[in-house]
Amino acid sequence: MDVDFKDGNRKVDKRQFLSSSWKQLAIVGLVAVLGVCLGVIIGYFSRGGTALPTDSWEYMLTHEGPSWVSQRLIDDISAANIEENLRLLTQNTRLAGTEADLEGAQYIRDRWLANGLDHVMLTPYDVALSYPTTPNTVTMTTENGTVVFTGRRIEEGFENDPDAVTYYSAYSPPGQAEGDLVFANHGSMEDFQYLVDQGVDLAGKIAIVKYGGVGRGDKAVNAEKFRALGVIVYSDPGDYGNPDGPNYPETWFLSGSGVQRGSLNGDYGDLLTPGYPAKEYAYRTDINNITATGLASIPTQPIGWEDAATLMRHLSGSAAPSDWQGGLGFNYSVGPGFVGPYANRKVNLKVTNQNVLRRTYNVIGTIRGSVEPDRYVLYGNHRDGWVYGAVDPASGTACMMEITRVLGALVKSGSWRPKRTIVFGSWGSEEFGLIGSTEWAEEYVKTLTQRAVAYINVDIAVMANDTMRVRGSKLLQKATFDATKKVPSHESSLVSDVGDRKSRGTRTGLEKTLYETMVENTPAVNGQPAESPRYLEMGRGSDYVVFYHRLGIPSVDLMFVQNREKPGVRPVPIYPAYHTAFDTFDYVKRFIDPDFKAHQAVARVAIETVRLLADSMIIPFDLLAFADKLQAYLTGVRTEHGEMLTAQGVSLDYLESAVTNFTSAAVRLDRKTGDVNKLNPLEVRALNDKLLYLERAFIDPLGLPGPPFLWHVAAGFSRFNSSSAAFPSLTDAILDEGMANPAQRLDAINKRLSVITFTIQSAVSILEDAGTD
Ligand SMILES: *[C@@H]1O[C@H](CO)[C@@H](O)[C@H](O)[C@H]1NC(C)=O
Ligand SMILES: *[C@@H]1O[C@H](CO)[C@@H](O)[C@H](O)[C@H]1NC(C)=O
Ligand SMILES: *[C@@H]1O[C@H](CO)[C@@H](O)[C@H](O)[C@H]1NC(C)=O
Ligand SMILES: *[C@@H]1O[C@H](CO)[C@@H](O)[C@H](O)[C@H]1NC(C)=O
Ligand SMILES: *[C@@H]1O[C@H](CO)[C@@H](O)[C@H](O)[C@H]1NC(C)=O
Ligand SMILES: *[C@@H]1O[C@H](CO)[C@@H](O)[C@H](O)[C@H]1NC(C)=O
Ligand SMILES: [Zn+2]
Repeated sequence: MDVDFKDGNRKVDKRQFLSSSWKQLAIVGLVAVLGVCLGVIIGYFSRGGTALPTDSWEYMLTHEGPSWVSQRLIDDISAANIEENLRLLTQNTRLAGTEADLEGAQYIRDRWLANGLDHVMLTPYDVALSYPTTPNTVTMTTENGTVVFTGRRIEEGFENDPDAVTYYSAYSPPGQAEGDLVFANHGSMEDFQYLVDQGVDLAGKIAIVKYGGVGRGDKAVNAEKFRALGVIVYSDPGDYGNPDGPNYPETWFLSGSGVQRGSLNGDYGDLLTPGYPAKEYAYRTDINNITATGLASIPTQPIGWEDAATLMRHLSGSAAPSDWQGGLGFNYSVGPGFVGPYANRKVNLKVTNQNVLRRTYNVIGTIRGSVEPDRYVLYGNHRDGWVYGAVDPASGTACMMEITRVLGALVKSGSWRPKRTIVFGSWGSEEFGLIGSTEWAEEYVKTLTQRAVAYINVDIAVMANDTMRVRGSKLLQKATFDATKKVPSHESSLVSDVGDRKSRGTRTGLEKTLYETMVENTPAVNGQPAESPRYLEMGRGSDYVVFYHRLGIPSVDLMFVQNREKPGVRPVPIYPAYHTAFDTFDYVKRFIDPDFKAHQAVARVAIETVRLLADSMIIPFDLLAFADKLQAYLTGVRTEHGEMLTAQGVSLDYLESAVTNFTSAAVRLDRKTGDVNKLNPLEVRALNDKLLYLERAFIDPLGLPGPPFLWHVAAGFSRFNSSSAAFPSLTDAILDEGMANPAQRLDAINKRLSVITFTIQSAVSILEDAGTD
């Protein structure tokens, strides 16, 4: 090469040319190789990003659902449709176990199929229900046996309605009782004991009691302990009526012929097949010998306050205490028996109820998830009602129907499908003891335990139109509140004629949200920040019980209610027409929610909460709120019982350690949800599984002492206190006066403490991979 270089220009030129073109080639080649490598590297690291087709499962699992869906779902919920649904749903009565049960189920199935749900089925169960064979009677007789007064059998205006069921208390045993009447306030143990202390012997008497104070079934159970022969229960106008002003049909207050029906059964699910589904192969206990919480062997019959006034006006005996008085317009005496014009008269009670095996139906409708069809977001409400049941339960069903329409339409259009499956349940026979939902959960218990993300319950959607009440698992607090921040307040259209348009597209900062209304009407109490709305403990009065309290599936219950603190409001324990024949479409339209704006608001919150749970990449559970709640439970135990426990040498240190561990595990996992490797579908799924199984850990597989099937170790109910209780089994061990001696009680307390400590620590191990994380 050197020689040539020194030779002539041409050669040199040629060699120069050859040499430079080789270099250029090499550079081009190098660039190409680098490019390919870079491409591979970029491609490698952008896997799951733009390189993946957006309709691949890996892409969908690791990304949020489309953001436009939220506003679209909220906008599409129509108040007019909900009103029309309610009108249609309340044209017939809906008593469980009658022809209306199947007809109603078929109607909902057909509508859901038309709405575009992927699959709809009926699930029948044969269960023990209870009906009067002939109308039950309450009469008053003179000494010679002449009947001088007979109570009503049905509300005024419904005498000729063959479908409206007469007044009764389901599962009251049949029976006849005659005796002197005694007024016993609410029928609590303390009430009866007070009477005994005043020298009023209840043996052989009939007790008349007001609704309220203790559960429907407890009244006769207590009365029987004091050897009463029967119980008559009524709704006092001081609680449900308007003693001074007009009542129904002029106002929503209960008029004298309105009677609250209801079940005495305090257990959950079919009474013949406890724990197992009431299928054709099921072993059944004796239908003529049913035992359950709340069932006494003396009869109970509910009456209206007009009849109660007749029975109580001339009671003899001393004046009832001032806090036993009510709104009947005269001073209540306790009896026994009558004075004055009614002297020597007796009261006669005849109950003809029979327990019968009847078929009841759930309707189960699904929208299959696009990515995780094996993860279920459950949404439900019961379908049965006592008479026309407009508020309870049709207000909730009217909303559920609209929600299925809106979701179904979007899915049918092909523009969206949730990542996870949404399952709708229209439950049968809730009014007799949450039977349909419980049987279904019992039948599918293994699957639900493995796969259910959450359960949303909207039973009574609107019982008054002031504000929305939320209660349930703290895990669902954030999702629910986030939904209320996107939903316009039901009041907002009243201050503007823009109406529904306000919720569309351009939402201004001026528009009031439902969240703001809730803060104004029901600001948080008990240590929660005052600028957020109240979030209450889960109850035990609707179909969420089996999902939440037995299976540990995070659940939430939504309902519009009265703001009892509003000046000028006359607070009622529940809407006055509850479980009466007056609970009709007309009642809702005139007194509860004339424009259906509150219904619309609940449905919007519910549909957005469903979307958040079914379509968010990470299940939107509020770990920190849950941890705070556990801390609050612990503080509560310390405040209420700390001194006594210390005096007995009981230490809360281990419990505190478990709660502290839970809090740090929750904080760690909460951080992780922020920086999970979103390119790794398995990591996303694994994280979601921890969230999914978290609250399951709080269910004790051996159950808890106390009410059957309430197995949530942290949140529940004490046997000795009707309000909710933290660590109920511990509270009960502390409060149980029946314990033979202090050593036995101490033993029970230590046992419960250890189970609770273990349970919380077991939840920690779910968050931290059995301690290996
Ligand atoms: C029963 O007693 C009432 C008065 O309490 C009286 O009016 C009626 O005639 C009596 N009937 C009979 C059959 O004795
Ligand atoms: C009813 O059931 C109870 C137990 O649940 C039992 O002790 C009792 O003997 C039964 N009575 C009859 C009449 O079968
Ligand atoms: C009830 O009793 C009080 C005093 O105990 C009395 O002032 C009041 O007038 C009585 N009311 C009626 C309606 O009799
Ligand atoms: C609530 O219902 C009452 C009727 O009971 C009605 O007058 C009022 O306008 C309603 N409020 C809202 C915000 O819809
Ligand atoms: C809490 O965590 C610590 C650290 O892992 C552990 O030593 C302790 O035993 C845990 N507490 C309970 C009650 O298990
Ligand atoms: C019942 O529980 C509530 C809430 O914890 C409490 O305020 C109340 O004092 C309890 N009542 C009894 C009788 O223990
Ligand atoms: Zn209901």
